[in-house]
This record gives sequence, C-alpha cells and structure tokens, in this order.
Amino acid sequence: MKDQDALKKMAADAAVEYVKDGQVVGLGTGSTFRYVVARLAERVKGGLRIRGVPTSLETARLAMQAGIPLLADDGEWAVDVALDGADQVDPQLNLIKGGGGALLKEKIVASAAARFVVIVDETKRVPVLGGTFPLPVEVVHFGWGTVARKLEQFGCRAAPRMRDGELFITEAGNLILDLLFPKIEDPGRLETELEMTPGVVCAGLFVGRTDIVVVATQQGIVTLNRQGARP
Ligand code: A5P
Repeated sequence: MKDQDALKKMAADAAVEYVKDGQVVGLGTGSTFRYVVARLAERVKGGLRIRGVPTSLETARLAMQAGIPLLADDGEWAVDVALDGADQVDPQLNLIKGGGGALLKEKIVASAAARFVVIVDETKRVPVLGGTFPLPVEVVHFGWGTVARKLEQFGCRAAPRMRDGELFITEAGNLILDLLFPKIEDPGRLETELEMTPGVVCAGLFVGRTDIVVVATQQGIVTLNRQGARP
C-alpha cells in the first residue's frame, strides 16, 4: 500500500513526461508540485532545455535551487504546457485549487497555457466539488467583511483564512475567503458569479480549463482527458 506522498511522486513523475525540449512550462504550487520540480530538475540536468513560469515565490525558489531557468514575472509568456496540483477534481475535470493560497497566479498561468496538465493522487477525485474542502476565493482587503456576506448569498459559509492568528495575505497583497459549500452543483455558473462580484479578484474554481489529469492510484497511473482536448 503506497502512502499519499508516494502517490504524489508517482503522479509527478508521470506528468513530467508531457514536458518536451524547448518548451515554456507553467510551474504550479503545492506539495505535489515539489515532486514535479525534483523530476524536472533531473531532466534538466540530463539536457532538457525549458524555461519555467512559477506560480509562487516558493516554487520560484525551489526551481532556482534546482537549476530550472525561469522567465520574468512581468513577461509576455507563450506557455506551452502548465503543470499543477489540485485540491479536488470532478468527473468533468473541473477543479478546486488554492489550498496553498496561490490560486491567482495559478489561474493566470493555466489560462496562458496551450495545455493544462493537473497532477493528483486518487484522494483528490470527487463526484461533486465542495463538501469538506472549502473553495478559496481571493478578495481585496477593502470591505472584505461585506464581500464575505455577499458571497454567502451563493449558499456557503465564508471565513477569512488565517495564519498565526493574523489574516493570511497572498503574494498579491489580498486576502483569501474560504467558502464552505455543501456541494457545488454548477461550477461554471458559480465561477462566473463569484468573479463578477465586486471585491473578488479570483475564485479557486477552474472550470473547463483542464486538458489532462494524471491520477496516481494504488493500481498505477490513470490519465483522464477532457473531451475535445488534445490527446
Ligand atoms: C496551491 O494554491 C494549490 O492550488 C495547490 O495546487 C493545491 O492546493 C494542491 O496542493 P497539494 O499538492 O499540496 O495537495
């Protein structure tokens, strides 16, 4: 029986095979992604030439330590493939992301990518998004309490994310509201509604963006392709 870390590493190793020589690669964030950086670093040492676009300072630091060249934050990137973890994946390959608070950069990079590859262990697959895992939403500081009440009108409980007794501040200087929904019946509609609410910068719902999900299971790797996505 493999533990969750072993599964994360297995998924990461398999997902890195989607990266080809000469590509610009979106680099996600999170504990699964640490294994991606480690495997990419091995391939770079072996001669793979890539340039990365990191989605957090943490990933930038890890990638630099590992010898992966990075593009400037403010550049205009043509991202060939973005790799990232997820907190939940539904059968349509819609995601909840942002457990680590990096959702804004993650969404920008995923949106810029020709192909978006998600890497998870089997515990992340759910029949319906929501439930036990709260949906992170990045909001500006101004009026966040009012925005939180407004968001609760969508049928959730909203709580500001805290760290060490203080409000958690994102790399863009914003806050995170964690929205607890019993279940998210229509993720596409909710993503639009949340992101149209004044004060909301970004919702951690990624709907219709995923091309491939690489899932590590006890029985081996399972690859899920979005209908219509490039094989
Ligand atoms: C970071 O903000 C998140 O979107 C992560 O990609 C997601 O939380 C998955 O993280 P783990 O790989 O640590 O589970």
